[in-house]
Amino acid sequence: QTFSIASIPGDGIGGEVVTAGLRVLDTVAKLSDGGIAFDVTEYPWSSSYYLENGTYIPDGGLEELQKHDAIYFGAVGSAEVPDHTSLWGLRLAITQPFDQWANIRPVTFLPGVESPLRKADEADLDWIVVRENSEGEYAGMGGRNLSGRGPGNEVALQTSLHTEKGTERIIRFAFDLARTRPVKKVSSVTKSNAQQYGMVLWDEVFARVAADYPDVETESVLVDAMSAKFVLHPEQLSVVVASNLHADILSDLGSALAGSLGIAASANLNPEKRFPSMFEPVHGSAPDIAGQGVSNPIGAISSAALMLDDFGLHGEADEVRRAIEDVTAAGILPRDLGGDANTIEMTEAIVAQLEAI
Ligand code: NAI
Ligand code: MG
Repeated sequence: QTFSIASIPGDGIGGEVVTAGLRVLDTVAKLSDGGIAFDVTEYPWSSSYYLENGTYIPDGGLEELQKHDAIYFGAVGSAEVPDHTSLWGLRLAITQPFDQWANIRPVTFLPGVESPLRKADEADLDWIVVRENSEGEYAGMGGRNLSGRGPGNEVALQTSLHTEKGTERIIRFAFDLARTRPVKKVSSVTKSNAQQYGMVLWDEVFARVAADYPDVETESVLVDAMSAKFVLHPEQLSVVVASNLHADILSDLGSALAGSLGIAASANLNPEKRFPSMFEPVHGSAPDIAGQGVSNPIGAISSAALMLDDFGLHGEADEVRRAIEDVTAAGILPRDLGGDANTIEMTEAIVAQLEAI
């Protein structure tokens, strides 16, 4: 079975962590004895590509991506280009047209990794943040200079878009996911006390959909209270579903609570499979450590495991996750987790463990 992957390393540490993930996929293929193959095509779309060509994705680029079974993405963001230009130019330019409306971001403790939360013998951290990935606060609606009165008097508007259909599909997705997990619970996050239109619609849809899942426990929590709950009562969470902005923020908080932004994985899914899904670490291009070869590849490698899940290769995905856990448990850790292994050393340790499983 051959799976075709489009790889987009992007900017900064994107290249080194994508290389790490592809090295692990190579190992998965090698260990399958010809059963599985990955056919990888690399696309050089990045901020330097943009500075040369005036666009992140060339004409026909999306059609090109659509030929693949999945997209493996590093990160985008560079000091030479405004961040909103790069994010809309490359990442959102893929997630939006490919209708990757469900962004899942698992958060778990890794053995041997110190977390600001972990106390001796404390219960495990095991969540999935489900992020509405197509509308909400990142719908891109609004404008600048609306007052028409010039500098010093500018008025800008940034609107959130919440459709009943978009809200319902992400909430159903969260409930279906909760049913597959040890703790069958969905926590819905809004700010419906202050934002009285879209977020109230969200709460209403959540209550309506919840009635179809009597076997799943539910709660509705305001986002400010939820950020406190992440820190104070992490053991009470399983699936957390939230809007584009809220889930973006909460998932960075979640990964930091598990130890580092460098370990967080994510999948941008088009659940209907009309378009390829996109797998990427949660972190950005990390310009502060780019080029040093010290970035943590675990987030990117775990994202490759989510890609294996999407291909139906659940056994292989679990083995990759186990290899990561064995390596961190053995005290082999990158700099952001307090160790001194560089990107290549971490990757080779995970590859060696995978070969030994
Ligand atoms: P960032 O995630 O790049 O970095 C935040 C901090 O975490 C930095 O100190 C960085 O060194 C550290 N870090 C991140 N990933 C790491 C890893 N794998 N190993 C070790 N340390 C790691 O976020 P920041 O600094 O806010 O943004 C930098 C650029 O990335 C910006 O241009 C931003 O727009 C872009 N960005 C892109 C994203 C994407 O492509 N999906 C997501 C988030 C930010
Ligand atoms: Mg983010």
